[in-house]
Amino acid sequence: VVPQSLSVKEEDDEVDLGSGKTRVTIFFGTQTGTAEGFAKALAEEIKARYEKATVKVVDLDDYAVDVDQYEEKLKKETLAFFMVATYGDGEPTDNAARFYKWITEEKGNSSAWLEQLTYGVFGLGNKQYEHFNKIAKVVDEQLSERGAKRLLPVGLGDDDQCIEDDFSAWRELLWPELDQLLRDEDDANTISTPYTASIPQYRVVIHDSTVTSCHDNHFNMTNGNASFDIHHPCRVNVAVQKELHKPESDRSCIHLEFDTSGTGITYETGDHVGVYAENCDETVEEAGSLLGQHLDLLFSLHTDNEDGTSLGSSLPPPFPGPCTLRTALARYADILNPPRKAALVALAAHASEPSEAERLKFLSSPQGKDEYSKWVVGSQRSLLEVLAEFPSAKPPLGVFFAAIAPRLQPRYYSISSSPRFSPGRVHVTCALVYGPTPTGRIHKGVCSTWMKNAVSLEKSSDCSWAPIFIRPSNFKLPVNHSTPIVMVGPGTGLAPFRGFLQERLALKEDGVQLGPALLFFGCRNRRMDFIYEEELNNFVEQGVLSELIVAFSREGSEKEYVQHKMVNKAAYLWSIISIGGYLYVCGDAKGMARDVHRTLHTIVQEEEKVDSTKAEATVKQLQMDGRYLRDVW
Ligand code: 2AM
Repeated sequence: VVPQSLSVKEEDDEVDLGSGKTRVTIFFGTQTGTAEGFAKALAEEIKARYEKATVKVVDLDDYAVDVDQYEEKLKKETLAFFMVATYGDGEPTDNAARFYKWITEEKGNSSAWLEQLTYGVFGLGNKQYEHFNKIAKVVDEQLSERGAKRLLPVGLGDDDQCIEDDFSAWRELLWPELDQLLRDEDDANTISTPYTASIPQYRVVIHDSTVTSCHDNHFNMTNGNASFDIHHPCRVNVAVQKELHKPESDRSCIHLEFDTSGTGITYETGDHVGVYAENCDETVEEAGSLLGQHLDLLFSLHTDNEDGTSLGSSLPPPFPGPCTLRTALARYADILNPPRKAALVALAAHASEPSEAERLKFLSSPQGKDEYSKWVVGSQRSLLEVLAEFPSAKPPLGVFFAAIAPRLQPRYYSISSSPRFSPGRVHVTCALVYGPTPTGRIHKGVCSTWMKNAVSLEKSSDCSWAPIFIRPSNFKLPVNHSTPIVMVGPGTGLAPFRGFLQERLALKEDGVQLGPALLFFGCRNRRMDFIYEEELNNFVEQGVLSELIVAFSREGSEKEYVQHKMVNKAAYLWSIISIGGYLYVCGDAKGMARDVHRTLHTIVQEEEKVDSTKAEATVKQLQMDGRYLRDVW
């Protein structure tokens, strides 16, 4: 389903002066849908508060077909808001990438050409990451530098705490400013009535399953069409599925191969694959029973009333109907994450037991802030657990899918193959997410559990399949293959390097001269989680990997990590990087990549015999030159 921005309905680019209305444009850069949801909620509230405003919600990617049009289009905006998320290593979301690149690189027009624009930026980020809300901060700065007038300070939402609270606090600062701009003089002295957001819902139509069948192309899958993306994934079979950990391990890591032959899917070594997985049967059955509905129920969702009037929900349904409840819950409902406060408000409205309704209202209220962070976020209570603890709350499906369960999002993996070496296949290396939460529930990651249970074509013709698409990355081998490379990837951080090494093997077989390549890999124990051990040794034997350096963190009495091995090899490592080599790091951003970054800084300082500031500048330069690349999560 292509999420349609409201702009589809309101094509008019000009400020509507005739009717005395002011146009407000709300842009969003979203990856998991939160920024988009915030943009739409903000639009609804502005519409409800200010009669004078006509509001447009715009996906940043849909704003202009061509980057050359950004300037001309932005010049026509007078009041705009940007809801933008920051991802991974301080990156924009996919749908904001083009805009972000343009606004940070656009230098042609040095004058204050955006003087007519008044704007506000709200960022969605996470304080645990090094580049907290980088995209929001940069967009805010760039707009201001072009002469645009900042209406209020940039909002820095922190998803590590409660981002909905941060968004509410930012909106509280916004209203007095907007009152000045959008309130009519007649009501300048009147006190505005408090705004309460209405609970969005869809109209539900139940179908007779003996007459109608389940719509089986919910994802708008366009096999045969070569341009796949997040809105148009491609259905592919699972060709191979196997466990990578050895029997002694108490954890699991899956090697999966999607069969892309004949689909038109293409990718480059180092790209990512987005996978739409399904909730497992157990989860779906529990959800069906908590909702008090039969899983075979065939239904469809609609945004309009029967008489054609709008129901007020600006979100398109998550799937085209009709669809069974089983499929809807499996493929489209995010039910294992903690519910947002807005979901608790909607649940409260449908709880028949007054004490349950009260408690739900409290949890979502400003007074219940601490309790929400402890009871919901801190204890990682899933939406399913919350439903179970409030048995009288039985929301209708139209409310459940519009206001309670967010749409299940695709999961991204660094592709662990090279198309040159493994044509017609996309390989994934995925660690199983499985473990107890503070409430004693065993949390099972949606996509990794699906991969763990996937049945391959090797085993059955009735094999598992998934809608997938490729997300291009800039984590690429040097153009010149004789350039030295150093790869650092513990655990599943090895994935893209397996792709690199496959690529190098294919190149070598074609007679290409290869430069030296070092791989620092880390795992717990040789007998448990040394994944792809034979393949890696084979890459060394074939001469495509000059040295394989493995840190075992749980073999000896002391922990040994990849960064410790880097220090042991500091002189050689720096000798090849400083003459033009590339350094790649892949894996966990919060722990490993941060520690490796610090180690690199120390290595530069010692090898170059410079102070900390100089070392930092050298590392920055490496990054700027695109010779220090990170693929981290
Ligand atoms: P540990 O589990 O024994 O702590 C792959 O997950 C490997 O990365 C494991 O051996 C893990 O060790 C290790 N690891 C954990 N934290 C790390 C960090 N901050 N830096 C480098 N490696 C780390």
